[in-house]
Amino acid sequence: MKVLVVGGGGREHAIIKKLAESADVTSILCAPGNGGIAADAECVPVKATDVEAMVALAKERAVDYVVVAPDDPLALGMVDALAEAGIPAFGPTKAAARIEASKVFSKDLMRKYGIPTAEYETFDDADKARAYITARGKYPVVVKADGLALGKGVLICEDEAAALDAVKNIMEDRAFGASGSRVVVEEFLTGPEVSVLSFTDGETVVPMVSSMDHKRALDGDEGLNTGGMGTIAPNPYYTKDIADECMEKIFLPTIRAMKAEGCPFKGCLYFGLMLTPDGAKVIEYNCRFGDPETQVVLPLLESDLFAVMRAVTDGRLADVPVVFGKGAAACVVLASGGYPQKYATGKPISGLEEAEKTACVYHAGTKLEDGQIVTSGGRVLGVTATAETLAEAVDKAYAAAGCIAFEGAHMRRDIGRRALAALK
Ligand code: AMP
Ligand code: GLY
Repeated sequence: MKVLVVGGGGREHAIIKKLAESADVTSILCAPGNGGIAADAECVPVKATDVEAMVALAKERAVDYVVVAPDDPLALGMVDALAEAGIPAFGPTKAAARIEASKVFSKDLMRKYGIPTAEYETFDDADKARAYITARGKYPVVVKADGLALGKGVLICEDEAAALDAVKNIMEDRAFGASGSRVVVEEFLTGPEVSVLSFTDGETVVPMVSSMDHKRALDGDEGLNTGGMGTIAPNPYYTKDIADECMEKIFLPTIRAMKAEGCPFKGCLYFGLMLTPDGAKVIEYNCRFGDPETQVVLPLLESDLFAVMRAVTDGRLADVPVVFGKGAAACVVLASGGYPQKYATGKPISGLEEAEKTACVYHAGTKLEDGQIVTSGGRVLGVTATAETLAEAVDKAYAAAGCIAFEGAHMRRDIGRRALAALK
C-alpha cells in the first residue's frame, strides 16, 4: 500500500522509519518532509496545513492511507476532508481534535466527566480574569491561552503582577493571536511529569510505553521552554500501580467522555500527566504523537505500526497486538545555537554516517543543498539509541550525538539524568 505522511519533523521521520518496516507498506510519500526524510520517503512540497492541496495530492498519487501527524492540520479538519474524498487516515476528526485545540473544551470535558486535573476557571473577558486572579490570591498561578500556540501559550506566574501581565499579553495584546480570545486560569500543580501516548479507536485504548520530555533549553531545566530537547522511555516514575490508576481514572473515562460528547477520538491521544501528591492529574491532552516522545516510543514498538494504525481507523484495535520491547530508549536533540529564539540556518552538518552506525538519527530541521545536508530549523536532529537499560541507552545516544557537528550546535548534557536518579 502507498502511504502519505503529513508533516516534516523528527516525529514524522520516526513514524516513517517504523512504517517502512511493515510488509504491507510498499511506498511512502511525505509532505512536506525534510532533507533527511528524503532518504526514506519521497518528499512532496505541499504545506502540512494546506488541506485542499493535501487531499488533491493524495488523490492524484492514488494514496491508500494517510497519517496526519501535526496538530494544526488535524485541528483544521484534514482527516474529515480525506474521509469525504474516500481516503482513510490516521488521526482524529476536527471535532475530536478540540481536545488539544481548545483548552476550554478539554478542561470543561474533564470537569463534566470527573477526570482529575488542576482546578480552573475560564474567561472570555480580561477584566473578569484579572478580578478572579486577584480575589483568588494564590501563587504561582497558571494562565493558558485557549487555542494552539506552538506550545508557548502556557504562562506560569509567580505573583499577581506577572499573572495580570499574562492576561494582558494573551487577551489584549494577542501575543498568541486568535488563540488568546479566551483564557484558562488554573491551579499550579507539582510533581514529576509523565507523557503517555496511546492508540485509541474510540472504544479501546492501548497506552504505549511511557516517556519523559525535557522541555527547557538548558541543563538542569533552566532557560526557555522549547518544543523538547530530549526524551527517555520508559519513565521510571510511571509504575505499574500508577499505570493502573491512570487507566481507570483518566484513560478510559476520557475515551468514554469523547464518545458521549459525540466526537469519539480515533488516533494517537497523548496524555500529559503530573504525578501530584493527590494522584495523577492531566496537565494537557495532545491529539497526536508527541515530538520528541515519538522518537523514543516507536523504536521500542515491536508490533507492526501500519497494522495498528489501520486497526485504529477501522475500529478494530482490540483485535491487534500492540507489544513494546523490554528495553529503554533515549533521544538527544541537537538544536541550532540560539533556539528557541533567533538562530542561523544553512550550516553544513557532518558526522551523520558515523552516528548512524550505533544510533538512529531522526531529522527535524534539515534540508538537502547541492548534495549536502544543512540545518534549516531550530531543532535540527534527534539522536535515539535503544539498549537493555536506560543508562546504556543514554550513553549510546550521547556517544552517537558526539559524532555530529555543525556550527553553533547545542544539546543538553543531562537528558535522562533525573530518570536515572529516580531508578536508584
Ligand atoms: P503545556 O503546553 O500545556 O504542556 O504546558 C507546558 C508546561 O507547563 C507543562 O509541561 C508543565 O510543565 C507546565 N504546566 C502546565 N500546566 C501546569 C499546572 N497547572 N501546574 C504546573 N505546571 C504546569
Ligand atoms: N513534546 C511535547 C509535544 O509534542 O507537545
